[in-house]
Amino acid sequence: MLALAYWQIAFCWLVLPELIMSDSVAAPADCEAPPARLRHMKDGRTFAFDASANAWRLVSEAASESGEPEVQLALPWSQFHAAFDGDFKIAGTPLNLGGDGSRRHQDQQQHGDTGSSIWDGAIALAKVLESNPWLVQGREVLELGAGRGLAGLSAALLGAKRTILTDLPYCLEALEEASNLTRPGGGYPGPVEIAALDWANPTHFLDSRPDFHFEVILAADVVWLIELVELLASALRALAVRRPAAEVLVVHQTRASSVEVAFLQAMDDQRFELVWELRGGSAEPVPALGVAWDKDFIPDSRINLWCFRLREAPDA
Ligand SMILES: *[C@@H]1O[C@H](CO)[C@@H](O)[C@H](O)[C@H]1NC(C)=O
Repeated sequence: MLALAYWQIAFCWLVLPELIMSDSVAAPADCEAPPARLRHMKDGRTFAFDASANAWRLVSEAASESGEPEVQLALPWSQFHAAFDGDFKIAGTPLNLGGDGSRRHQDQQQHGDTGSSIWDGAIALAKVLESNPWLVQGREVLELGAGRGLAGLSAALLGAKRTILTDLPYCLEALEEASNLTRPGGGYPGPVEIAALDWANPTHFLDSRPDFHFEVILAADVVWLIELVELLASALRALAVRRPAAEVLVVHQTRASSVEVAFLQAMDDQRFELVWELRGGSAEPVPALGVAWDKDFIPDSRINLWCFRLREAPDA
C-alpha cells in the first residue's frame, strides 16, 4: 500500500512532466493534479518543471523587471482545498482570513506576494495544533512569516496565553484584518498582537517586547527559497537564545530538495536539535508523544513538520 503510494508520487513527479507538453493535458485518474510541464504566468513569464530538481524554473522572462536570469519555484499543486471565508474551522471557530477568501491559484502566483498565499503546510499544521492543543494551550506563541496568519490564529483560538503574529511590514495590515475577521464571539482566549519581525534583525522585535516569554515559535511553510535558509536559521537562533526552552515548530513543503537539506543543515549549524518530526504521507504518531497529523489532513510526502529546540542548556 505504502509502496504503491510512493510509486504513484514518483510517477507524478518524475514521469508525467516528461509526457505533458502543455498545461491543458488532463490528469490521469491515478494522480491528483499532476504538475504540468509548462506554466504560463499572467505577467507573461513561463516556468518549466524540472523533474530532476523537483522545481519550477523560469524559462522565459518576458516581463521580468530586473532582467536578471532568475530561478523561481512555485507550487506544483495543492492538496487541500480549504476555503478561508468561514468554511475552515479551528476549535469550532471559522477562520476568515480576508483577502480573496481563498488561496491564490498557482497560475496567479507572483514573485514577492508569497506572504498572502496559504499553502498546504500551514493548513496541516493548524489541524495538528487542533488535534494536539496542548502544544500551544496556555503558552505564549510567536509566529514567524505569518502571511495570512493561519497557524498563529489557530494557536490563539486553541487557547494560547498570548500570540504575536509577525511578518514583514507589507503583510501586517492583512494579518490584522484576518485577526479581526476571525475573532470568535467572546474574543480570543488570550491577547493576539501583530508586529513586524524582519529575520535580518530579530533583535529589534525582541527588544520591543521584553515581556514576551514565548514558549513556542511557529513557522509555516516559510522556507522555499535557498536564499532564505541561512537567514531564517540565524533568526531562529537569535530568538531561541533569548528563550532557550522554546519549541520551534516548522512545517516545510519541499519544492526543491536542496532547500530542505540546506535548512536542516543550517539548523544543525545553529545548534538546534530535531526533537521530533511528522513526515507527510504517514498517519503514525510520534512515539511517546502521540502527536500525529489530523486524520483528514495528512499531507503527502512533500510536507514534514519538525520540532526543534536549542541543543545547549541556557547559561545559568
Ligand atoms: C481591526 O480592528 C481594530 C479594532 O476594532 C480596528 O481599529 C482596526 O482598524 C482593524 N484593522 C483592520 C485592518 O481591519
